[in-house]
Amino acid sequence: MANKTYKLNTGQEIPAIGLGTWQSPPGEVRKAVYVALEAGYRLIDCAYCYANEDEVGQGLADAFKAGIVKREDIFVVSKVWTTYNTRVELGLDKSLKSLGLDYVDLFLVHWPLLMNPNGNDDRFPKLPNGERDIIRSHNHVDTWKQMEEVLKTGKTKAIGVCNYSKRYLEQLLPHATVIPAVNQIENHPALPQQEIVDLCKEKGIHIMAYSPLGSTGGPLFRAEPVVKISEKHGVKPATVLLSYHLRRGSTVLAKSVTPERIRENLNLIELDDDDMKLLNDYSDKLTKEGKLQRFVYPPFGVDFGFPDKS
Ligand SMILES: NC(=O)c1ccc[n+]([C@@H]2O[C@H](COP(=O)([O-])OP(=O)(O)OC[C@H]3O[C@@H](n4cnc5c(N)ncnc54)[C@H](OP(=O)(O)O)[C@@H]3O)[C@@H](O)[C@H]2O)c1
Repeated sequence: MANKTYKLNTGQEIPAIGLGTWQSPPGEVRKAVYVALEAGYRLIDCAYCYANEDEVGQGLADAFKAGIVKREDIFVVSKVWTTYNTRVELGLDKSLKSLGLDYVDLFLVHWPLLMNPNGNDDRFPKLPNGERDIIRSHNHVDTWKQMEEVLKTGKTKAIGVCNYSKRYLEQLLPHATVIPAVNQIENHPALPQQEIVDLCKEKGIHIMAYSPLGSTGGPLFRAEPVVKISEKHGVKPATVLLSYHLRRGSTVLAKSVTPERIRENLNLIELDDDDMKLLNDYSDKLTKEGKLQRFVYPPFGVDFGFPDKS
């Protein structure tokens, strides 16, 4: 199951599972990347914002040197950070330099807003009152236009977005010459985001699911249907949460810096219809009760059009 791939609207094959690197600390992420590639992962999800692409690059270089993989065997994703949304090519160049690569396979808009490129911090500029320094007049479509230009340089093989709601996608698509290959969104049974998933499917945009375990510490391991299904199949709750995305036709990103967990997360299974019903009923119940859980929602103070937050 871990070898499964999907086809993007560019014709590229994208693996069904990838290693996440957000909050993977320096001193650990180099080894995590190496262990993952050795174990069979072929997709590594990175971002300028994570401030660890140098070390991810070292992990990649270690694996190339050891002959575990060649560059063309792997799918590397990076993202333009919000302070670079008017300087997309510069953002990509910085990531490529850190990663030690001359191209990425997929480059994504990390969040559809602009933080002050001339602010008091490269990644998280703040106003004197402590709020994030956001340029509210910026139109996210202008960033997409720069993404389309960057695609022509060959420094990325595909372009896409992250954290796009249905509303934002509907604003973007009429102006897009290139349809995003991917929308990377938070996705799990406690936040199915079905309206976005359905729209993306209709438009040929592949979903990459992030925070599938509920992010830091994996809070979704304790969700009742997850426990039930894991007991039924004799697998770990993590396996259930990751396998859920295979049945939904999405790529899933799992972050770990713990070698045994990195390996364990490749043990995907095929959930049956009863399992999916349990998980979907759980999603429906949370939706009805207004108890959906969004674990990653940076304090931008911007309405991105997510129904659970708007
Ligand atoms: N585009 C975006 O805006 C965006 C936002 C968030 C995330 N992402 C991407 O998606 C990736 C995954 O999301 P995430 O990092 O938020 O969270 P996640 O993968 O849902 O969960 C990571 C947490 O689960 C733990 N864990 C992993 N496997 C486990 C296992 N088998 N058993 C027990 N615990 C386990 C990890 O601990 P240890 O590491 O200590 O093992 C870590 O605390 C990110 O790393 C990033 O690449 C993208």
